[in-house]
Amino acid sequence: MNNEAIITASDLKRHYKIRTGGFFSKPSLLKALDGVSFTINGGKTLAVVGESGCGKTTLARLVTMIEQPTSGCLEINGISGTTRSEREKRELHKLVQIVFQDPYGSLNPRKKIGAILEEPLIINTALTASERHEAAREMLAKVGLTREQYNRYPHMFSGGQRQRIAIARALMLKPALVVADEPVSALDVSVQAQALNLLKDLQDEMNLAYLFISHDLGVVRHISDDLLVMYLGSPVEQGRKTDIFRMPIHPYTRALMGSIPSVNKNMRRKRVRLTGEIPSPLNPPSGCAFHKRCVFMSEVCTVQRPELRLVEDRLAACHHAEKVAAIPF
Ligand SMILES: Nc1ncnc2c1ncn2[C@@H]1O[C@H](COP(=O)(O)OP(=O)(O)OP(=O)(O)O)[C@@H](O)[C@H]1O
Ligand code: SF4
Ligand SMILES: [Mg+2]
Repeated sequence: MNNEAIITASDLKRHYKIRTGGFFSKPSLLKALDGVSFTINGGKTLAVVGESGCGKTTLARLVTMIEQPTSGCLEINGISGTTRSEREKRELHKLVQIVFQDPYGSLNPRKKIGAILEEPLIINTALTASERHEAAREMLAKVGLTREQYNRYPHMFSGGQRQRIAIARALMLKPALVVADEPVSALDVSVQAQALNLLKDLQDEMNLAYLFISHDLGVVRHISDDLLVMYLGSPVEQGRKTDIFRMPIHPYTRALMGSIPSVNKNMRRKRVRLTGEIPSPLNPPSGCAFHKRCVFMSEVCTVQRPELRLVEDRLAACHHAEKVAAIPF
């Protein structure tokens, strides 16, 4: 199995110019994503977590090349995201596929499942009609549906089944990387675990790299190998899932984890709750963007932006990371 890097992202940024006043007003800069770097190996999952508006979908749009970064670069299976070669561009679009959150909106209601699954093959491969048929039926079986469901329309399926179809469609071109933007958050809790298990099984079988976006740490804990915690467009903590869950160091990660309900009464610890509003990304606080909500904040936090740096076994962007780390979680 190839367990080498499938994707390397270096200092990705996406800034938008926004006009908040009239037409002649000076545009403000909205830093939707402001310097994100990571690597994902074959068969591994990087989960991106953070509250609404922290830049998760923006990152998904850059990685799937729906949008170009303002700066920074991507390399996928050795091909640069800015390649000018048409052949490499086609290859990149096969290598990266996406599964969206909404299983109702993402499938064309007028098309039968078979046609939905075969569409990427028609556009990107030279397979014959009967080969495409067979590939679609095989994929249906792989995602836990039946080959007979090939002729049905999306409305005949439940939310969980539709998400299986969306996953099947994403896998038709045998991608190396799947970007899943909140893939289970629209599903009933009872079917979420099944969808996650399916994703895990398919990952093992096809050695897929996943960029898994979620605001739900319970889900992330289940599926990820590595974790990237974002706040207002910037990474605040990044490392192995086991290390971060065992001992979150950044005050924001601690606060996020403090809002996971504790299942076991005996395990209950004193936890810091996340309070206060998310600041406007058009007018972020000075210094550390989290300082107005942070219980560990001091003078330096209001004036100096903390750099992402190595703290123990992970990266964290906090002036007081060592002090926080010394406090048991
Ligand atoms: N095309 C755009 N033009 C201007 N601003 C944008 C654009 N796309 C996103 N933004 C802004 O960038 C920030 C990040 O948005 P993004 O959709 O990436 O957040 P998110 O983490 O996916 O949030 P959610 O959890 O709600 O899906 C937000 O402040 C959003 O308003
Ligand atoms: S830098 Fe300061 S305000 Fe920001 S997270 Fe660390 S302690 Fe809190
Ligand atoms: Mg989003």
